[in-house]
Amino acid sequence: MNKIVLPAYNKNIIRALRSLRVEGCSLRKPGIDEVLIKVHAAPCNPSDIAFMMGGYNIIKEVPTVPGFEGSGIVVEAGEGAEDLIDRKVSFFIQEENCGSWSEYVISNRKKLVVLDDKMNMDQAACFAINPFTARGLLDIALLRDNHAVIQNAAGGQVAAFVRQMAGDMGIDVIDIVRKQKTVERLKNEGARYVLLENDPLFEQNLKKLAHKLDARLAFDAVGGPLAGQIFNAMPFDAELVSYGGLSTKHISGIDSMDLIFHNKIISGFNLPEWREQMDDDFFEQVSVDMQHLFISGKYQTKIQGSVGFDNISDGLIQCLRNLSKGKMLIKAKVAE
Ligand SMILES: NC(=O)c1ccc[n+]([C@@H]2O[C@H](COP(=O)([O-])OP(=O)(O)OC[C@H]3O[C@@H](n4cnc5c(N)ncnc54)[C@H](OP(=O)(O)O)[C@@H]3O)[C@@H](O)[C@H]2O)c1
Repeated sequence: MNKIVLPAYNKNIIRALRSLRVEGCSLRKPGIDEVLIKVHAAPCNPSDIAFMMGGYNIIKEVPTVPGFEGSGIVVEAGEGAEDLIDRKVSFFIQEENCGSWSEYVISNRKKLVVLDDKMNMDQAACFAINPFTARGLLDIALLRDNHAVIQNAAGGQVAAFVRQMAGDMGIDVIDIVRKQKTVERLKNEGARYVLLENDPLFEQNLKKLAHKLDARLAFDAVGGPLAGQIFNAMPFDAELVSYGGLSTKHISGIDSMDLIFHNKIISGFNLPEWREQMDDDFFEQVSVDMQHLFISGKYQTKIQGSVGFDNISDGLIQCLRNLSKGKMLIKAKVAE
């Protein structure tokens, strides 16, 4: 089978992408509770980009195979997983020596979402992480009884799910983006409050809106000074939840008076930990409900295209230029 190999981490992402190569290797048999999955597709997520730069919380021995999620069909099973043969699955794998940018992967059954046969397999490739992340973030809003939230990187796919799910829950969303064209797109799609982070009146307008809507919860995927601006703009009793570090900069500019006297807090969200805390039956129900919304077409991950193993570097460099355009899927072969 063929797989994509990253020979070494590189802080320069273009160089890291240019260094990707296709390599052949042999397959091992799945062990107890493991399955062998023939991969249909795997996306390139910001976590994969951070990983290739050596800036993610997971560092594997190099050379390594990138990719933390994907979709496929179970073609072989070890003891205790035979019931999964021929099932469609989405998977989320972070194990050493196993990445989703490969023709086959081995996964423990616990790391799989077993899918309804009607799930579209391109959509399934992006199902295991982002929709559940949005759901996990909004669970915080429900727990805190917040009726308005703020989010940055709002042109991305987690943010799109947050907007859609929040709408269904009656929660207002203040979206923050970094490009004017993304403001226009989100407004065309029905987003109500969209702010441009480099507008000279950004901080002033955000504060006004956050107080008007009583937005006491923010989902931060960017970090850096933007996270500090959002934190300072929120009313007392607010919480800023950091779940991504797209700017690669430390959160900064926090008003310490807010922390001391206004009962504001900063916390972090990590999907695997949220999943761990969840009862298996409850997670299964959330997954089934969410799949129905994908099958009906109500929920969709925006996909900008697919790239084959033989053209991966050029395809991913092109996708980096416009992440808001949607996910780039990686497939062993892309039909002409
Ligand atoms: N903690 C968790 O468990 C968890 C789970 C899933 C995802 N995440 C994180 O969530 C974040 C979003 O993921 P995604 O899949 O939704 O991403 P995505 O679909 O690739 O979109 C990324 C978005 O972020 C914007 N962006 C990129 N760099 C930025 C910067 N420096 N400042 C402001 N905006 C920036 C992009 O805008 P342009 O179009 O302008 O480039 C794009 O709209 C990532 O950081 C990811 O790692 C965390």
